[in-house]
This record gives sequence, C-alpha cells and structure tokens, in this order.
Amino acid sequence: MARAIATINLKGGVGKSTTTVALAEFMAAEFGQRVLVIDLDPQTNLTTMMIGERRWQELNDEGLTLATLFRNAVDRDPALPQFDMSKTVQRGVSSVKAVHSVDLLPSSLDLMEVQEALSYVQFNDPYSNAPVEILRNAVAEIADFYDYILIDCPPNLGIITLNGLMLADGYIIPTIPDVLSTYGIPQIQQRVQKFATRTGHRIKEIGLVVTKYRSNSTLHRATIERLQRDETIANVMPCWVPESNQIAASAEFVGYGTLKMKYGGQGQFDALRMVAEDVLMNSKVYL
Ligand SMILES: Nc1ncnc2c1ncn2[C@@H]1O[C@H](COP(=O)(O)OP(=O)(O)OP(=O)(O)O)[C@@H](O)[C@H]1O
Ligand SMILES: [Mg+2]
Repeated sequence: MARAIATINLKGGVGKSTTTVALAEFMAAEFGQRVLVIDLDPQTNLTTMMIGERRWQELNDEGLTLATLFRNAVDRDPALPQFDMSKTVQRGVSSVKAVHSVDLLPSSLDLMEVQEALSYVQFNDPYSNAPVEILRNAVAEIADFYDYILIDCPPNLGIITLNGLMLADGYIIPTIPDVLSTYGIPQIQQRVQKFATRTGHRIKEIGLVVTKYRSNSTLHRATIERLQRDETIANVMPCWVPESNQIAASAEFVGYGTLKMKYGGQGQFDALRMVAEDVLMNSKVYL
C-alpha cells in the first residue's frame, strides 16, 4: 500500500510545487520508488511543469482532469462526462529521460468553480465526511500500484485541499526561512490537527523542508535556528534546498537527460537528493 504525503503551506510561492516535483523525480530515479503525483491546485502549476501547457489543454478539453472527478460529485447528471481514472492518470510524465516511474493526476483551472459548488454541499451537511472523501475513494483503485503518492496542495485549506488531507498519511511543510513564510506554520499544524480529530483520520507531520535558502543571509540562518529550537515543530529536514536560478528554471517544460542537468550540479542535485532521502526515511518511521 502506498504512503501518501501532502505538501502544504498556506503561504504562496514558497516552493511547494517545485519541491513536490523534485521529490517525485528523485524518489523515482534515485531511490527506485513508484510515485503518483496529484495536483490539487487550480493554478495547475505542477501539472504544466510536468506535462506542459499544450498537453494539459488537450486533457482538459476531454475532461481528463481531477475537475471531472469533483464535478461528478456535485452534479450527478449522467449526461456529463464521467471521471475515468485509467485515462486520467498520465503515466511516465517526467521531463527527465532518466525518470521512468512518475505518474500524474492532472489538475484543471475549472477546479476553482467546482470547489465552490463542493463547499456548498459541505455547508448544507456539515457533519458529513462525504465531500472530503471523494479523492481518497477514487485513488483507492490505483493506490496499490505505487510506493508513494505525493499531493501538491494549493495555498489554502479549502475543500479540495481537505480531500488531499483525507488521502494523506502525513504532510511536509516547505518554507522559505524568513519571517513571513514561517508565520503561518502553527496555523497549519492546528488546522490539520483539528481536521484529523473531526474526521478520525490520523495525519502525521513529517517535517519542514527549507526552500530557497540563501547561505549569505543572516536572516535565513537565524530563522532556521529558531525553527530547529521550536518544540512545536516535529522535524526540520537537515538538508536545505538552495535558492538557485536553475531550480527556478526547472519550472519550464523542456526535456532533460538527467536530474543533474535539470536542477544543477553545483549543490542543487545533492541537496534535493538528500531531501528526498530524508522524506523517505522519515515517512518510513512515522507513517
Ligand atoms: N529553490 C529555488 N530556487 C529558486 N527559485 C525557486 C526555488 N524553488 C521554487 N522556486 C521558484 O519560486 C516560485 C514559486 O515556486 P512554487 O510554484 O514551487 O511555489 P508554491 O509554493 O507551489 O506556490 P503556490 O503557493 O502559488 O502554489 C516559482 O517561480 C519557482 O520556480
Ligand atoms: Mg504550487
């Protein structure tokens, strides 16, 4: 059975999607894991990073995204396109030749509108878990094919994100080590805990992943030290992802031969490999 890990932070732009893509690729190519990535963000950043905008548009036109899954749950009209898991999962999606075993459940801009309708369903029946179990029920059919399921969440705790949490066994919090990016961490922990208590579904905090680290920044070093001392944080992953132009450029959908070519060999590859190793090790202990 796969271990499912959500990537979450209420702060936007801290590297959630970039970290999720890199983790998936390193887990697959460097550690031999079969990985499914789920993009729950209507911004579709992760989806277009992995398959490009043109392919996403084709899939979206055919209703082969997660928007169809959630739409079916709010509108049971059989005349509407029905979610088809086997056609929606995109297999072997990495832009890196050396990565073979990463699959993707693509997101859609239409998720935004579907999310509103789904929230309305939940509002009308606040004690029902059904609106947050849609993703988990759908993924159950394919979960056994994978070692890891990585869920990239939007920077909010809306009902689509809650679907991700309901599937997740644990979560990681990517954060830039600065004041504003770390400000909301206690809120995330509390809200996830509250959700776990309400639904009876246990979700373990795996740890914080430091992103966009600048070695010449005294603020970054001081923030990391503060986080390491903070007893309310389960674990600060010991390897920090450096801020790097090449990691930023990896968002563009172009082909690469190896992970080193994609992310850079001046410390980026080693840092991302170690983060993946830490997440694997911690998830085996905690999940
Ligand atoms: N280590 C890094 N070094 C430099 N740039 C980075 C790094 N990680 C991410 N970025 C860049 O920072 C921006 C935000 O990254 P990303 O989209 O991964 O963040 P996010 O937390 O998923 O954002 P959102 O909240 O909008 O979903 C992107 O332009 C990305 O390319
Ligand atoms: Mg993102």
